[in-house]
Amino acid sequence: MPDAQRIPLCASDALVDGGLAAAFDVCYRGQNLRAFAIRYQGRVHAYLNRCTHVAMEMDYQEGHFFDDSGCRLICATHGAVFAPDTGVCLGGPARGPLAKVALSEEGGMVYWHTAPDLHPVAF
Ligand code: FES
Repeated sequence: MPDAQRIPLCASDALVDGGLAAAFDVCYRGQNLRAFAIRYQGRVHAYLNRCTHVAMEMDYQEGHFFDDSGCRLICATHGAVFAPDTGVCLGGPARGPLAKVALSEEGGMVYWHTAPDLHPVAF
């Protein structure tokens, strides 16, 4: 198994607490998908942009994942809500947690990390 890689995603200051997400592309189990990174309570988190109710992207307006409270992520289609720090479903029709993407932050940059089933998109 190849070692995990860390891939530059965005500058740290591009992610504001409870604010807009940064989108990025991944290849997950052979399928090209969008993913998104957010900041919540000072820490960065990322998930596949794929609702666990219906496998579709969650943001009606690109980058808008937080609800009005700034404490939950919400799927724009049917209103399922998720914990920003764990991806656990907190309500609505979703069937489980969001798929998490590992991140790290160092030297003013945010990086995402590959995993055995998660890779950069091949061009
Ligand atoms: S597709 Fe997300 S709640 Fe239905």
